[in-house]
Amino acid sequence: MYQPSEMANLMNAMYAYNQQLKAQIVAGKTPTQLPLDLAKLHTAEMTDKNGRTPAWNSFVNVFIASQQTIIDTISNVDLKERYNASINNCLGCHKTECTGPIPKIKKLLIQ
Ligand code: HEC
Repeated sequence: MYQPSEMANLMNAMYAYNQQLKAQIVAGKTPTQLPLDLAKLHTAEMTDKNGRTPAWNSFVNVFIASQQTIIDTISNVDLKERYNASINNCLGCHKTECTGPIPKIKKLLIQ
């Protein structure tokens, strides 16, 4: 039976959270909450075939910082731009570390 890794569960929670952010932003709302503990990206156990490669390490903190900019209510940068930049950081890491979910993640971008 398929047993998702701790990292896969975290990734799916990140997906659901960003889907909800997208809906809020499209509806003209200003998100203010980041309920996920993204520091867990540093410790969550991954599927055996994956690991914390140099590419992973180069993306993870940039990604966490970009998720935090979305709920920065005093930022001068357009909200949609901050959100899409963060999704592009998901994609940046996925391009080398886990290509399967890329089409699904692209759907999170706000056109
Ligand atoms: C720093 C690199 C990195 C970043 C950033 C990243 N991912 Fe991932 N993602 C991975 C890796 C590696 C896996 C495979 C996890 C494993 O091996 O257990 C994964 C797995 C997934 C999966 C599949 C989970 C499953 O059920 O198998 C989804 C969906 C996903 N990521 C979505 C996202 C989304 C959405 C974002 C941005 C909000 C994101 N990822 C950001 C590296 C990353």
